[in-house]
Amino acid sequence: MEHKPDGLKGTVVRSRLQRALAHPFGFRRLLVRELRLNEDLPSIEPRVPATLCRLGPEDWSDLIALRPFLTEEVIRLRLSNGHRFYGARVDGRTVHVQAMAVGKAFNSFLDIVFPLSPVEIYFYEAYTLPEYRGQHISPAVTVWAAAEMRKAGYERALVFIYPHNRPALQANARQGFRQVGHFGYVDLLGVRRYFYWSRGGGFERVPNRLLVRKQSLVPMDIQGTIW
Ligand SMILES: CC(C)(COP(=O)(O)OP(=O)(O)OC[C@H]1O[C@@H](n2cnc3c(N)ncnc32)[C@H](O)[C@@H]1OP(=O)(O)O)[C@@H](O)C(=O)NCCC(=O)NCCS
Repeated sequence: MEHKPDGLKGTVVRSRLQRALAHPFGFRRLLVRELRLNEDLPSIEPRVPATLCRLGPEDWSDLIALRPFLTEEVIRLRLSNGHRFYGARVDGRTVHVQAMAVGKAFNSFLDIVFPLSPVEIYFYEAYTLPEYRGQHISPAVTVWAAAEMRKAGYERALVFIYPHNRPALQANARQGFRQVGHFGYVDLLGVRRYFYWSRGGGFERVPNRLLVRKQSLVPMDIQGTIW
């Protein structure tokens, strides 16, 4: 019976090795873009009559229908951390949703939780139903929500964008965001190193670092939360 722990350890090591050999190299990068809330925000009118709103408990089923990876439990967890959900309705139907974080945020693509400063907000998971895209609904909601957060004293809004997501880049440029940096990681034979680099803006609480362990970049005590 005593050999069992070693056997388990051996299995873990073997499976890590197999994973590392199957995917010896990995690279992920997101653009960091910023909107200064103390500057004039653009005025954006959706091209269809849409009602912009902050989503409440009565909207959770609509939100989950558009973002099926969400559950009521995750929504509650996010709300308890101060996050908000926004959306747009056309003829009573929810056609767009997006989320906004304060305090700290999670990015599943980079598998990292990162801190936000007390004046930063972070927009994420914007989604417009395909048949309503191109109507300026997403940028109108973001700017509307940003104006609401400006009144509450926040100074800067940040987003991540996948470098090849052209519609998101276009919508984001329309909102007045500008490119300030990059956040990503490199995997080499099962060893992961993160990088964050920004200039003239970006996340105040994330230091510029190249190819460092996660714990050298962000506080480890905020990692591991389910979002
Ligand atoms: C990114 C996204 C939220 C933009 O929402 P939107 O309400 O369509 O925003 P906009 O109306 O400003 O359109 C942005 C760009 O989408 C593209 N677009 C226009 N019509 C489109 C259509 N019918 N279908 C797809 N994309 C279209 C255009 O490039 C447009 O920019 P342009 O008007 O300057 O040419 C939406 O495309 C989406 O839900 N994509 C899938 C999820 C996603 O990628 N989210 C972003 C994560 S960062």
